[in-house]
Amino acid sequence: MTEAKTIDKTGIDIQKIRADFPILSRKVNGKPLIYFDNGATAQKPLSVINAIDHYYREQNANIHRGVHTMSQEITVAYENARATVQKHLNAKHAAEIVFTSGTTESINLVAHSFGKKFVSAGDEVIVTAMEHHSNILPWQQLCEEKGAILKVVPINDAGELIMEEYKKLLNAKTKIVAVTHISNTLGTVNPVKEIIALAHAQNIPVLVDGAQSVPHMAVDVQELDADFYCFSGHKLFGPTGVGILYGKEKWLNELPPYKVGGGTIKTVSFEKTEYADVPLRFEAGTPHIEGGIGLAAAIDYVNAIGLDHIAAYEQELLTHATEQLQKIAGVKIIGTAKNKASVISFVVEGIHAFDLGTILDQLGIAVRTGHHCTQPLMAHYCVQGTVRAAFAFYNTKEEIDEFIKGLERAINMLK
Ligand code: ALA
Repeated sequence: MTEAKTIDKTGIDIQKIRADFPILSRKVNGKPLIYFDNGATAQKPLSVINAIDHYYREQNANIHRGVHTMSQEITVAYENARATVQKHLNAKHAAEIVFTSGTTESINLVAHSFGKKFVSAGDEVIVTAMEHHSNILPWQQLCEEKGAILKVVPINDAGELIMEEYKKLLNAKTKIVAVTHISNTLGTVNPVKEIIALAHAQNIPVLVDGAQSVPHMAVDVQELDADFYCFSGHKLFGPTGVGILYGKEKWLNELPPYKVGGGTIKTVSFEKTEYADVPLRFEAGTPHIEGGIGLAAAIDYVNAIGLDHIAAYEQELLTHATEQLQKIAGVKIIGTAKNKASVISFVVEGIHAFDLGTILDQLGIAVRTGHHCTQPLMAHYCVQGTVRAAFAFYNTKEEIDEFIKGLERAINMLK
C-alpha cells in the first residue's frame, strides 16, 4: 500500500530507487548531493556493490584456467555475465559479446583490427560531427596510418545529423561508418536504424557508440542490425574498467586479434600460434572479472525497473529542466533536437562554464563543465565549453528545482 503510493505515472518508485543508491544520501560541501554528472559516470546500486563485495569475499579466482572449484565456479559466473549482456542486447550468440575495458577500448579494437584487414589507401571512413573524441581519434589515426580519408556527417544547429549529407557521403570507397547512438554533449538520439540501413544498402558495416544510450533506453542489436555496438559498464550503473564490444559473429570471425597474450590462443609454438575462437581471441590477459560480474548485476537492476519506465521518467525530467532553464535570461541550450535523451548542455552569456560549475559544486550540485571530449562540436557552436546536466532515473524534479535556484544564484554572483 505505502509502496504503491510512491510509484509515479511512469512506473518509477523514486523513494525505493534512491534508497538503493547509498551515495545519494551523502553530503557535498555540507549540502545534500545532487548528482547530475551521470553522463560522465553513473552511481552504483547496492546490488552492484554487493556483487563485487561477494566476489572478493567468496569467489576470487582466475577464470578459464583452473581445475579447482573456485576457478570453475567463477568461470561459470563470468560466462553467465556474458550471457546476461547477450540477452540484454538481444545478440544472437554469447560469442558476439567481447568484454573490454570500456567503450574507448571497444572502438579502438574495431578501428585497429577492422582497419588492419579492410582499410587501404584512398578508402573512406565516415564519422559524424557530434562524436566523442573516442569515436574520432581511433579512426583518424587509422586513416593517417593507411592513407585513408575521414569523412564527417555535418549537423544542423539543433544538433541533428543532416541525413541528406550522410547519404551523399556513402560510396564505394566507404569502408565503415562510426556513429554515436546518443550524443554525450547534446543528448541527440540519432536515427541509427536508418543510418545502418542506408550503409547496408551499399554493404558498408556500421559501428555504434552506445556509451550514452544503454543507460537511457533498451537496445536491440538485431533490430538495429548493428555490426558493432560498444558501451561502458560504469555509465550503466556498473563498475568502471569494464565495457562491451558487441560484434556480429561474421565480422568478429574475420578480425585479427587486437591485443594478444594469455587466454587468446589455442596453441603456441615459436613457429606459429593458432588463436582461439571469438570472443576469447579478443580477451587477452586476466580480465576484469569482478567488472563483468558487477556489470551483470547492474543490467539485472535496470531490467527489474524496466528501461521503458526509465526512459519515460527521464523524459519528464528533461522536459521539466528544459522549461525551467529556458526561463533564465542569458541561458542558451546547446542541442535542441526533436529526439533527445535526458542530457542538457547550456551556456550562459558572458559567464564561463567552469565558474558556474564551481559555484554549483559549493551547493552540492555535480555537473560537468568543459568541452565534454567533443571539441569539434564546440567549434561548431563557437563555444569553449558548456555546462552539462545529465539526469538518471534516481534524479528528481525537486533536485532540478534546487539546481535552477543554484544556477540563478551563481549567475547573479558572476554577472
Ligand atoms: N564521455 C564521458 C562524458 O561525456 C566521460 O562525460
